[in-house]
Formats: sequence, C-alpha cells, structure tokens
Amino acid sequence: MEGHLLEVRGLSISFTQYEKGLHQTELPVIRDLNVTVDRGELVAVIGSSGSGKSLLAHAVMGLLPYNASSSGEMLYQGEPLTESRKRELRGRNIVLVPQSVSYLDPLMQVGEQVRKGKKGPAILEKCRRVLGSYGLGPETEPLYPFQLSGGMTRRVLISTAVMEEPELVIADEPTPGLHLEAARRVLGHFREMAEQGAGVLLITHDLELALQVADRVVVLYAGTAIEETDSRSFSREETLYHPYTRALYRAMPEHGFSSVPGNQPYVKELPSGCPYRPRCERAKGECAGAVPFERTDRGGVRCLRWREWAFGQEEPSLREEAAL
Ligand SMILES: Nc1ncnc2c1ncn2[C@@H]1O[C@H](COP(=O)(O)OP(=O)(O)O)[C@@H](O)[C@H]1O
Ligand SMILES: [Mg+2]
Repeated sequence: MEGHLLEVRGLSISFTQYEKGLHQTELPVIRDLNVTVDRGELVAVIGSSGSGKSLLAHAVMGLLPYNASSSGEMLYQGEPLTESRKRELRGRNIVLVPQSVSYLDPLMQVGEQVRKGKKGPAILEKCRRVLGSYGLGPETEPLYPFQLSGGMTRRVLISTAVMEEPELVIADEPTPGLHLEAARRVLGHFREMAEQGAGVLLITHDLELALQVADRVVVLYAGTAIEETDSRSFSREETLYHPYTRALYRAMPEHGFSSVPGNQPYVKELPSGCPYRPRCERAKGECAGAVPFERTDRGGVRCLRWREWAFGQEEPSLREEAAL
C-alpha cells in the first residue's frame, strides 16, 4: 500500500449565502487545509468553536451538508477518496465518532445499537467483547440511551464505531460534558486504537487533553490551519512558531492562563491575509496579503514572520522571555 492512510490536500469548503434579494455571498469556512494521518498515528486537530473542525470530519466522511461546496484533494491509502469510495468505506474502514450524542437512537437498547441490527452468536460475542473493552458489562446491553451517564454514552458511541475494526477513526469532540477522569479515559481509548495500528484523527477544542495522547497537532484558526507540529513542540514555547499557537500555550493553566484580547473572527468578517492579524502583536502590513503554509523542521506554519520572530533575531526581549 502506498502513501498516507489519509491525506487531505488543499481542502477548502464554502457555503453560498443568499442575502436580501439576489445578493449572494460565499462564506469560506475552511481554506486550503492540509492534513495527513498515518497508520498507528493519532493526529489532533484543535481549534475553538466555529473554526471548521466538524466540517473537516464531515468532508472526509462524505457527509457535508448539501449547500456546501468543496475543493481540494483527498487520498486514502494513496488513491483518490471519491464520494463513491467514501460511501464504500464509511462505517467500515473509516468511522466517525460523532460530536453529538443524539446520533444514538433513543428507542433502541445499547446492545442492539452496537450490533447495528445484526444477529447471531458471533456478533453477540463480539458486541460483548467490544463493550467490555470499554468497561461496559453485559448489564449495559439492555439499557436505553437515557439510562446512561455521559461517560457511558461516549463509550457506547465508540463501541458502535469500532465494531467493524476500522482503519481510520475520526473522533469529533469526544470529551465535552465529561469530567476530567472520564475524558482522559475516553482519549486513552483512542490512543489504544492508534497503538493497535489504526489512524486516528481527533478533533477537539481541548489542547491540554489532546497533548496527552496526540503524536501531532494541527491548529485551526477561523478555518485556516496556522500551524502543524509535533506534540512535543508544546513542551517549550520557543519550539512553537505561530503567534496564535504561542498564545494557546500561554493560555494553558500551567503557563499562567494568559489570554489574548479579542476573538476569533466569524467567517463573514474575515480579514484579508492572515486571519490572526487583527490580534497579532507582530502583524505588519504585508500580513494582509497572501500567507503561504511553509514547511518547518517540526511540521509547518502559516506566518510570514515566523523565522524572524520565532528565533528572536529582531526581538531580543522575546528571546529572553522565552528562555525563562
Ligand atoms: N450548513 C451550514 N451552512 C452555513 N454555514 C455553516 C453550516 N455548517 C457550518 N457552518 C459554519 O461553518 C463554520 C464552521 O463550522 P463547524 O465545522 O461546525 O465548526 P466547529 O466544529 O469547529 O465548531 C461555522 O462558522 C458555522 O457557522
Ligand atoms: Mg464541531
């Protein structure tokens, strides 16, 4: 088999919006996104709400809403991932652990949902084994979704997804509503899937949790991937190259919770050039123009000034700060 398990190249997604009368505008919600996932690897895509994370998941699954248009390329095991191939692979080779627990049928017992209506002793045995591997005993099988705690519901959703032993798992925000211990356990399950050879794309807004399990991290800001790096780069601020990634680093509790004024822009109000420009202390006039994604020693970054400021050539005060 050739190539990455999944390769997304230059994915852009937009919605056509009709305003008063015949006025029609394009809302670019994801722009020129590149992501790869290999077998045995857990890649986290992190970004705050509205940054385009679920759309990325749905684009890979072939589940974009009808009013979305997309461009770019997707390859699966080196072959084009066409819409018909997505339909073939979906639910078997590629599975989605959805963001919303409303994907469970409220009127169907847990066992039945996990078995997806299939019958026979082999499937019953497998269902029991899968649920058991997530700490859910046989007593869970006759329960209905409303009888489950948040953590149990997440584990049932995961069980449903892994019944087919997928090669690629896309988990869309699998931890909200869970207390820290339960969230850690759920992420631990995705880590195990990667250890067992699956590729995992973990979509989350929780950087701290993601860093505990991810090999690589892709940071989204307002629909644009601004940095891709090794998880280990987050052990020091100097090894992060985008000003927004550094801001995320400084916002982590162990680094002092400091925040950057302002908000991520809504797609309708995107500035030209770098979407982080209005909040960036280092923005210059040229940042209003095109900003390409450049390869770095650790992944890639989309910042015109990253070399200059990340290595502190022009700003010794920053270098000292980073060394502290
Ligand atoms: N069907 C749709 N029509 C128009 N805009 C949409 C639609 N679905 C999502 N969006 C917009 O796309 C952006 C990204 O959405 P989404 O991928 O759900 O974000 P996230 O999962 O990161 O919170 C949001 O600004 C959202 O409002
Ligand atoms: Mg989402």
